[in-house]
Amino acid sequence: MRALVYHGPGERAWETVAEPTIEAPTDAIVRIDASTICGTDLHILKGDVPEVKPGTILGHEAVGSVVEIGSGVTTLVVGDRVLVSCITSCGRCPFCREGRYGLCTGGGGWILGHLTDGLQAEYARVPFADTSMYKLPGGLADEQVLFLADILPTAYEVGILAGRVEPGDTVAIVGAGPIGLAAVLTARLFTPAHIVAIDLDDARLERARELGADLTINNGSGIAVAAVMQLTDGLGADVAIEAVGVPQTFELCTELVRPGGRVANVGVHGHPATLHLEKLWIRDITITTGLVDTITTPRLLKLIEEGRLDASVFATHRYPLAETMAAYDTFADAASSHALKVVLTAEPVEAESPRKESVVGAV
Ligand SMILES: NC(=O)c1ccc[n+]([C@@H]2O[C@H](COP(=O)([O-])OP(=O)(O)OC[C@H]3O[C@@H](n4cnc5c(N)ncnc54)[C@H](O)[C@@H]3O)[C@@H](O)[C@H]2O)c1
Ligand SMILES: [Zn+2]
Ligand SMILES: [Zn+2]
Repeated sequence: MRALVYHGPGERAWETVAEPTIEAPTDAIVRIDASTICGTDLHILKGDVPEVKPGTILGHEAVGSVVEIGSGVTTLVVGDRVLVSCITSCGRCPFCREGRYGLCTGGGGWILGHLTDGLQAEYARVPFADTSMYKLPGGLADEQVLFLADILPTAYEVGILAGRVEPGDTVAIVGAGPIGLAAVLTARLFTPAHIVAIDLDDARLERARELGADLTINNGSGIAVAAVMQLTDGLGADVAIEAVGVPQTFELCTELVRPGGRVANVGVHGHPATLHLEKLWIRDITITTGLVDTITTPRLLKLIEEGRLDASVFATHRYPLAETMAAYDTFADAASSHALKVVLTAEPVEAESPRKESVVGAV
């Protein structure tokens, strides 16, 4: 089969590799129908995630069809259409029992396209299939559900829920990339009074406005704090969501938030940020951080199914899976391509040679 393989910093190739096979009874093999590229994949390619070994297939977001199951898989059958999530859950360790799949100590967590081969491929092996994949209802297109694999639960759980957004709140979202925009979209579920989007890129701020931000601020000239204070009678935002991942934007969030407010950090940071405790200690600020757990995936799926949430708005570019290399170029050049999410679509099944559809280990 063909897959997008990481070969060390700056090196990637769409190449022929061995097809995945069942390695543990709880594995399933999935034919990838649609996949996408994450900003984290670009971080990996820059060499920022050294745990990713050269030779690893990248990708941690996909919609696919189950083509093979291990003998221990009991809730999925060959032919099921599934969402493959960025987070894998063993379902048994203490963290998984608490619903904190991102912290799984039983071999799950963020492993796909990180510690094991990922989903930018024609086929993928998904460990702990029963507890890590979500059967999809009929009638929803791949693009309507694909972004449930990462950006929607990330923004919703680590931003909106951790920040405890409530009706009537002013929510300031710093960063209007896919994650910040997904925060705009999911903040609306709570009817805030104001959603403020802050970025340096006018095109992304325009998207934020389309998705429901009522105030957008280009902070190139450093006006964000003054603008948010003006909006909130000098108090600050009830919730500030950091969706960039650099020290300046974390520090900005702590300046934007009102006394008693919440700062929800979603960004992945590579450098230390300064925590101004000398100013913050007296202001009752709550600061949260976290890796997504994806525990809200079924809830978000229901909202999509019922027409309450439209996740397809993130799909700005489309490529055949075989053109993943070109898709990476477009995604990496978001400043000029204005890409948010690039959808990689496999050839329709009919056009392929049939793959073995055995149920490994079944009696
Ligand atoms: N916590 C988690 O589980 C989790 C999961 C996925 C992604 N993330 C992280 O979330 C962050 C956002 O992801 P994304 O895919 O939207 O990233 P992105 O790079 O596409 O978007 C970041 C946005 O921030 C803007 N920006 C950059 N510097 C800025 C500044 N100084 N002030 C204001 N805006 C600025 C950029 O113009 C861009 O629009 C990343 O750090 C990513 O790694 C976290
Ligand atoms: Zn991701
Ligand atoms: Zn676990």
